Amino acid sequence: MPGLVIVGAQWGDEGKGKIVDLLAAGATTIVRFQGGNNAGHTIVRDGEEFKFHLIPSGILYEDKTCVIGNGVVVDPRVLLGEIDGLRRAGVGVGNLRLSANAHLIMPYHVLLDTAGETKLGKLSIGTTRRGIGPCYADKALRLGIRVQDLLDEKILRTKIRAALEPKQQALRELSVLRRKRRKEAGEEAKPLPNGGEEPDPRLDLHGMVEEHISFGHRLEPHIADTAKLCWDALDNDETVIFEGAQATLLDLDHGTYPFVTSSNPIAGAATVGAGIGPTDIGEVWGVAKAYATRVGAGPFPTELHDEVGERMVDQGHEFGTTTGRRRRCGWMDLVALRYAVRLNRLDALAITKLDVLRGLGPLRVAVRYRSKEGAVLDSFPYHQSILHSATPEYEELPGFDEDIGDCRKPADLPQAARDFLAYVAEFAGVPVKLVGVGPARDQVVWMD
Ligand code: IMP
Repeated sequence: MPGLVIVGAQWGDEGKGKIVDLLAAGATTIVRFQGGNNAGHTIVRDGEEFKFHLIPSGILYEDKTCVIGNGVVVDPRVLLGEIDGLRRAGVGVGNLRLSANAHLIMPYHVLLDTAGETKLGKLSIGTTRRGIGPCYADKALRLGIRVQDLLDEKILRTKIRAALEPKQQALRELSVLRRKRRKEAGEEAKPLPNGGEEPDPRLDLHGMVEEHISFGHRLEPHIADTAKLCWDALDNDETVIFEGAQATLLDLDHGTYPFVTSSNPIAGAATVGAGIGPTDIGEVWGVAKAYATRVGAGPFPTELHDEVGERMVDQGHEFGTTTGRRRRCGWMDLVALRYAVRLNRLDALAITKLDVLRGLGPLRVAVRYRSKEGAVLDSFPYHQSILHSATPEYEELPGFDEDIGDCRKPADLPQAARDFLAYVAEFAGVPVKLVGVGPARDQVVWMD
């Protein structure tokens, strides 16, 4: 099976990094195809914790090629920071390849993300404020700066100049609006940089070009034609893993718009974001937690606001890898999961963090929604207002109180845990192949 796509089947943070890390053992190449440093993976290996935002999860294997594909948006400071961190930890990065066509998150994208969220006020999306949306917007506007531009000062300067001008104007207007709002709220307004008379030094063209040329020098050994690299591996019958970031319900087209990210985290996007054909994909796996979490705003039908939800936060350490935000928690939503199964045409599921459900029985899984008018909704509603007001109806399943952290085969799991997994697989219509029972790399159960 040459091409294996692994995607999040919920709202992100499902523990995809660990699953990719495990499956990478049988692959030669691991490719990220969308998103940016809004993602965050934690991998625990030999007691040491590694956190990545941009670098693919396979980097801990020295013999694997790790690719940041053309569909990813790359903040060069963050990438260089991760490269330095890995080197300090003694992990080689010689096999890291960066698409020359990937777009760069520039300082003004980060400023615009924060300014945009502030402007939205109560309607804000709760973005990670890493500049993801503004960078993808510039890509679509054909005002983007690409990795290859870092290698030519003249081109870089021309492109940054063209992109910068409308940003300066937008940021000036937003900053005036913010000051006005603060004043209305009786708050002391902070002085603008350089008293507001001079342009913001963070947006200085000359400084930005100089800095980015130096980033280019450092990244040059990694810059490559990564689509060709994928073709060569696939044509050679090697297994290539396409690692999704974020998740299905955060998809720009198919998620809970506008409370979504600005890329397409679904399996089909691996083709565009890596430069391969649909028939290069042999298998698609979805990763889902044994419960559900979401960060940022937006509908979340099974969200809990009670003690069980609090215990999920505590037992699951549900705080974001990227922003440290507390994640909203709730029961597993099988209506949403079945939607993810079909949308991604999943072949298999990996269920993570089953251990977190210990002591939370009876366990619940949402099997349908009810609209505010009382209609039964068996499938995920496409209409935003219906989803916002839908209430879940649950199936109750027996819980388990045993510590399952040492289970390594299905027979080690308590009967209630096995029944829970069987119920999920039956409802979703795909087998559960892998189950996470703790944070460490070896804390998994391969199902029969
Ligand atoms: P953005 O991707 O930073 O623009 O944020 C848009 C929405 O996606 C927000 O609700 C974020 O919290 C959410 N989001 C982005 N990346 C992740 C992730 O890796 N895990 C979970 N949520 C994410």
